Amino acid sequence: MTAEPPPESDPRDSVRTRVLVVGAGIMGSGIAAQCALADYSVTLVDVTEELARRGSENAARALEHAVRKGAVLPGAREAALARIDVGIGLRRAESAQIIVEAAPENLEVKRELFGELEGVAPAGAMFASNTSSLPITSIGEKLRDPGRLVGVHFFNPVLQMPLVEVIPGHTTRPEVVERARAFAARLGKTVITSKDTPGFVTTRALAVLVNEAAWMLYEGVATQEDIDSAYKLGFHHPMGPFELVDLVGIDTAVAILDVLWDGFRDSRYRACPLLRTMVSAHQLGRKTGQGFYRYPTGGPR
Ligand SMILES: NC(=O)c1ccc[n+]([C@@H]2O[C@H](COP(=O)([O-])OP(=O)(O)OC[C@H]3O[C@@H](n4cnc5c(N)ncnc54)[C@H](O)[C@@H]3O)[C@@H](O)[C@H]2O)c1
Repeated sequence: MTAEPPPESDPRDSVRTRVLVVGAGIMGSGIAAQCALADYSVTLVDVTEELARRGSENAARALEHAVRKGAVLPGAREAALARIDVGIGLRRAESAQIIVEAAPENLEVKRELFGELEGVAPAGAMFASNTSSLPITSIGEKLRDPGRLVGVHFFNPVLQMPLVEVIPGHTTRPEVVERARAFAARLGKTVITSKDTPGFVTTRALAVLVNEAAWMLYEGVATQEDIDSAYKLGFHHPMGPFELVDLVGIDTAVAILDVLWDGFRDSRYRACPLLRTMVSAHQLGRKTGQGFYRYPTGGPR
């Protein structure tokens, strides 16, 4: 990540192109910060003013963290923050050329959102979904122009993770795929491309890892601390699976496993009951202050 945006690859995405980020949660706030750093004008929207405001505070916190790590200059952070605007509703899509959807991992929610966006956004606006597992073709099923929709899958925390997975749907136009790649490159990311199958490349790998760890804990094979240590010290993973799923959100992990189960009907993807119980108990990880570990202030455990 750098303070300077990489060279422009697509003239339609020139400086001050407006990006609308829909959903100001864990991912939307990071995507907004990353786009603002790359000199885009950003609007971050959620369903309530309070959620949108919280999203922009999280974006500010992520930028602050990047400054502390030396990845972003303080001046670049200030300039980026000034380019992020928050609000509610989708009317702001009127002036957006790139729309990134980061709403919950729910097919109906995403279909409905893009359906509404199609009625508001300019015909040339690119529709990008940050879904981590849902088939892009299925998200675009009800669109009049599904060719403008592409999967642009960021990783958490967005400012720190160098990868973006681009997923063309069955009918995504090749120029939209190229535009998605150019957008990710301008954000300083390395792009991989995956076919439109449930979970793509990365989420399929992640789901099995997290689910297996949860099953081991459920069966009493070892404690969660020891299982985390096994992955970190035995395989050089930077985080253990329970630390990771607390960061991702346990509700999101269960939603992903359900999509993989629906798509493949393979028992590898049968969500461990422990994960479901934690969702029912609203212990969703860092975002609720309690997951496999406790996060009293939403920070490190
Ligand atoms: N959490 C991760 O680590 C991660 C990583 C990569 C991709 N993803 C994907 O990113 C997407 C978002 O995940 P998240 O973890 O940020 O979820 P989240 O629950 O933190 O945030 C989702 C936000 O969307 C908002 N929202 C719901 N309906 C909306 C609407 N109609 N209009 C505007 N906002 C709306 C919610 O209020 C919430 O603030 C999901 O598709 C998820 O699979 C998540």
